[in-house]
Amino acid sequence: MSKDYRETHLGKHRLHDETLMLGYGYDPALSEGSVKQPVFLTSTFCFPNAEAGREFFDVVSGRSKTARNDADGGLVYSRFNHPNAQIVEERLAVFEKAEAGAVFSSGMAAISTAVLAHCAPGDVILFSQPLYGGTDSLFRKVLSRFGVSVMPLKDATDAAAMRADADAARAKGRVAMIFLETPSNPLASLADIGLAADIAKEIGAAQGHRPLVAVDNTLLGPVFQSAVANGADLSLYSLTKYVGGHSDLVAGAALGARAVVTPIRMLRALLGGNLDPNSCWMLARSLETVALRMGKAAENAVKIADFLAAHPKVKAVHFPTLAKPGGAQARIFARQCTGAGSLMSFDVGDRVSAFRVLDRLKIVKLAVSLGGTESLVCHPATTVHSGVAEAERLAIGVTEGLIRLSVGIEHVDDLLEDFRQALA
Ligand SMILES: Cc1ncc(COP(=O)(O)O)c(C=O)c1O
Repeated sequence: MSKDYRETHLGKHRLHDETLMLGYGYDPALSEGSVKQPVFLTSTFCFPNAEAGREFFDVVSGRSKTARNDADGGLVYSRFNHPNAQIVEERLAVFEKAEAGAVFSSGMAAISTAVLAHCAPGDVILFSQPLYGGTDSLFRKVLSRFGVSVMPLKDATDAAAMRADADAARAKGRVAMIFLETPSNPLASLADIGLAADIAKEIGAAQGHRPLVAVDNTLLGPVFQSAVANGADLSLYSLTKYVGGHSDLVAGAALGARAVVTPIRMLRALLGGNLDPNSCWMLARSLETVALRMGKAAENAVKIADFLAAHPKVKAVHFPTLAKPGGAQARIFARQCTGAGSLMSFDVGDRVSAFRVLDRLKIVKLAVSLGGTESLVCHPATTVHSGVAEAERLAIGVTEGLIRLSVGIEHVDDLLEDFRQALA
């Protein structure tokens, strides 16, 4: 009996994402029976005949009217498509509940290509705060050079505040995108994806073009939050973080409806940001364990957040499970997420105290990035958010005493002991 390697059901039973991550989209019969997909180290692919070459080019360049997906055509050239990328794109799309996906050579390549594909001079982007420092710099320092203006949302959890910002944005130009990062880096604050989708509809009715809702889903997806299932048009990832999960690769992805992803794929082919076969192979390996890793790290994180919140030297801990009961953050968390993930930040008052804690930690490593198996800390104000102007940084809560912590999968007792001695 032949098997369908894109089957998501056993009869009426929907297979779980954890199961699909082990085989979806890869047919061993195409690779000598190899249980794991080979790394396809080739820059280009032979066409079976000239007519097929013409047809494949129609698909990868977006001209085909009949192709359902990129794999409907054929393999052409590794800047456009290759088997290792297709496997990861299809698996990520299944997990996110999205129709299509595109992988990139970094999270920033995914974000910048998605924004450039869907915005034009004169457009306005509304965005939640805080954002990862790189995205913040792209928005505030680069996009204006291409005639795209950006406007921060005062409160991405409140309908009245978002409506007021939407009105102000419409006065500036066509609103092309509402961009949310939820949870945010480094404050782990939540923005309301469903609310943004409602506001996008209202803007669409008023200006005759519905803006896309794009969500940076790096911190919780695909395990604890599907941005697409919550109403986003685009779910963007730094795969460098939890999906890669071992701090050994840099990658990104854009997932969503085919009609939204196709222009991004087309621009990716021109800007040249497709991900290489080796990194794609590593990502497919990592997707097999992403639910296990994120689950274990999240369990550890709840215990560490509780420990830090009770510590006399810690002024504040920012983590979704500690949100004020009945408040907007707790409400959004309950509706939008199935877990809190393992990225948090905590405040020890000032830079001197923060540096002292960072320098004393022994198990937890001092490095930027997050989402790996090992726990990492950093000082956002002087590293990942140092490119954000000081006044803005303080206004969004990235203080001098703030430490960002990405909790890994070590034994939690060892991590607790490390924080106990570092804070002593
Ligand atoms: C939330 C978030 N989005 C995007 C990025 C950028 O990802 P990359 O470093 O893979 O380009 C990062 C990196 O830290 C991030 O934390």
